[in-house]
Amino acid sequence: MSQVGAGPAARAAIALPREMGRGGAELVPMLAGVPLFRNLSRRHLKRVASLARMRRFAAETPIVRAGDAGSAFYVLIDGGARVVTPKGRARKLGSGDFFGEMALLDDSPRSASVVAEGDVLTMTISRSAFGKLLRSEPALSQELLRTLAARLRSAEKTV
Ligand code: CMP
Repeated sequence: MSQVGAGPAARAAIALPREMGRGGAELVPMLAGVPLFRNLSRRHLKRVASLARMRRFAAETPIVRAGDAGSAFYVLIDGGARVVTPKGRARKLGSGDFFGEMALLDDSPRSASVVAEGDVLTMTISRSAFGKLLRSEPALSQELLRTLAARLRSAEKTV
């Protein structure tokens, strides 16, 4: 689990009607605190913000379901979620963590369900925008791969 450096100002900035729509420059301070984006310049963060949509989920809502086709990538902006694999293993994700990348990367069904633990605010990026971002932002791709390696090591330990 990691922490987004979103302070009260960033929270207030996103507590606007736009939070349910496409993001703008007001999201940049919040995105700067997301570990996945930590090596991106302000200009590149603005690009991410322009591709992002903010979505809220009520407690216990499945945000993605195992077996479904994947159409978006998610970053948890505020709140926690649990990943439940088909074998019943559960993992916690917190603010600043991402999920939903696997189905987009290998074009296969969702590998697990991800359920909101409380009320949750997410940032989503569509499949096509996610692909474009990975191709154009090596720093983001590298950070994503680093996290996937850490998750694989952690999953191996619990098998
Ligand atoms: P995806 O398969 O698209 O949808 C379910 C998501 O849960 C998956 O992408 C990952 O982001 C996440 N996930 C699956 N397995 C694990 C795991 N072992 N640890 C952390 N996250 C996981």
